[in-house]
Amino acid sequence: MNAVLGVGGGIAAYKSAELARALMERGIRVQVVLTSAAAQFITPLTFAALTGRKVITDLFSNSSSEETLSSAIEHIAVAQENDALVIAPATADLLARLAHGHANDFLTTTYLAFTGPVFLAPAMNTNMWLHPATQENVSILKKRGHVIIEPEEGMLACGITGPGRLADPQGIAEIVAGFSSLGKDLEGETILITAGPTQEPLDPVRYISNRSSGKMGYALAEAAVHRGANVILISGPVQLPEPRGVSVIQVHTAVEMRDAVMQHLAEASIVVKAAAVADYHLSRVPQHKVKKTATRMSLELDPTPDILAELGQKKADRLLIGFAAETENLTRSALSKLESKNCDMVVANLVGQDGTGFESDENEVVLVLRTGETIPLARAPKRDIAGRIFDQVIKLRLSLHAAR
Ligand code: CTP
Repeated sequence: MNAVLGVGGGIAAYKSAELARALMERGIRVQVVLTSAAAQFITPLTFAALTGRKVITDLFSNSSSEETLSSAIEHIAVAQENDALVIAPATADLLARLAHGHANDFLTTTYLAFTGPVFLAPAMNTNMWLHPATQENVSILKKRGHVIIEPEEGMLACGITGPGRLADPQGIAEIVAGFSSLGKDLEGETILITAGPTQEPLDPVRYISNRSSGKMGYALAEAAVHRGANVILISGPVQLPEPRGVSVIQVHTAVEMRDAVMQHLAEASIVVKAAAVADYHLSRVPQHKVKKTATRMSLELDPTPDILAELGQKKADRLLIGFAAETENLTRSALSKLESKNCDMVVANLVGQDGTGFESDENEVVLVLRTGETIPLARAPKRDIAGRIFDQVIKLRLSLHAAR
């Protein structure tokens, strides 16, 4: 496991050196990021010596010294390369900036670019901790799903006794390490996921496609990798970065997607067909650009291979999850797709509404099961929907095992 340890500028910053060591003792690789205020309390060199890695100090500092490293885009790489973000001490100022999405230094930009679990260990003066502004910020961060490791009561550096002292570094490390072994419920599974649209050429310069962005399929791939699965992502043309830890195979057409799926099918224990595959294509594409004429033009298209239907025929004991994009009769159409294509579950997606479905960051779907049971998932970020889909996949897997 790789973790970013963000250190805020408070007197407790010196305890983060012990935290860095405690995390490393639990097998976690630590990348330290110091805010500029933290660097007033403890030097980058201390952390560089402890972790054996360069320490990142600030977004635009461009320091050339050996133990510091920074660039304007590096926060994206740091966010992608790490599995957890731990911020200790999280000062009142940092909590406020995180809660309100400020992006004015390396740590806050990394936070915004990071999609994994976030652990915040606040430390500050008791009155600052108890102030409604801080408590409101903490409640925003809790609602966002972050783990708040509450400060302890005790004698503080400022001389007052009360809550505000950084939690024990060993205890913080224990919580982070415990979390990394949790939730690996897809370990041992190889999940083949298709995502995005397909592009069907009409001639060397034109194609037909659809509005799928690939965001749902990519969110599924990320969720599956986080939960320990081996993931093969077969992707149509999309504008998304390749998810870390996933084998990505890029395709354009439905036929290419079908061939890639069949080539990797033997490895897969679960197949999730989130791609919006074109149903029709030109089976003989002209070699040269079609010229404009004054007369009307019509296209005669042939059906593409129905990949999901073929998967249903070759199902064996693998779990098969289809998607159904509908503009009406959502559940009924999804159930009939489930039956005709021999799926275990269909994720039914009402497309053509504002803010969900194609192109959107959010989705609202209904999971339709073989039993006819339907599970509506309220509108949520695609990342959360992906998690709920895999929760259901695990239940299906368990019920199939029990039935054997
Ligand atoms: N699908 C597929 N191959 C195709 C078309 C669709 O594998 N040639 C898969 C999609 O990946 C999705 C499911 O079939 O998992 C349903 O796709 P959808 O477009 O909703 O349904 P179709 O089967 O194409 O039926 P229709 O367009 O008539 O609703």
